[in-house]
Amino acid sequence: MLSKAVEGAINEQIKNELYSGYLYLSMAAHFESVNLPGFAAWMRVQHQEETAHAMKLFDYVNDRGGRVILQAIEQPPSDFQSPLSIFEQVLAHEQQVTATINGLYEVASSEKDYTTLNALQWFLAEQVEEEKNATLVLAQLKMIGEHSTALVMVDRHMGKRE
Ligand code: FEO
Repeated sequence: MLSKAVEGAINEQIKNELYSGYLYLSMAAHFESVNLPGFAAWMRVQHQEETAHAMKLFDYVNDRGGRVILQAIEQPPSDFQSPLSIFEQVLAHEQQVTATINGLYEVASSEKDYTTLNALQWFLAEQVEEEKNATLVLAQLKMIGEHSTALVMVDRHMGKRE
């Protein structure tokens, strides 16, 4: 059985993951509107990943005999600037997600919930990957600066993400 504290913290994290998906879907809509379909496709994949993260937690709560309570998801921003500034936002957002997973880990730790701590290992490793991906794209966007031909090439590459 999950303690109420752990159950509540996981429910909060389900909302955080769904919000992440919503944020990236909003970024996808922006990229569609500025004719960068590769970046839009990348964001759509990211949206699906975030939904999968939420569902992994959803299933975990159920597997442990807890009760998922879905919370309200905030409206994401819709005004975005350059791809560079968007990826600065992505990296900052992922760092914030890492902090919320760490917070969840602390709750599970104080409740001595070793099973949840074990399940959270997957999320901690995933956050390393998430921050690494955002950092890489951000570094490449910094390299190309205002060079639009290079941006179109990066867009094509981004569209290949599976
Ligand atoms: Fe679910 Fe991007 O962290």
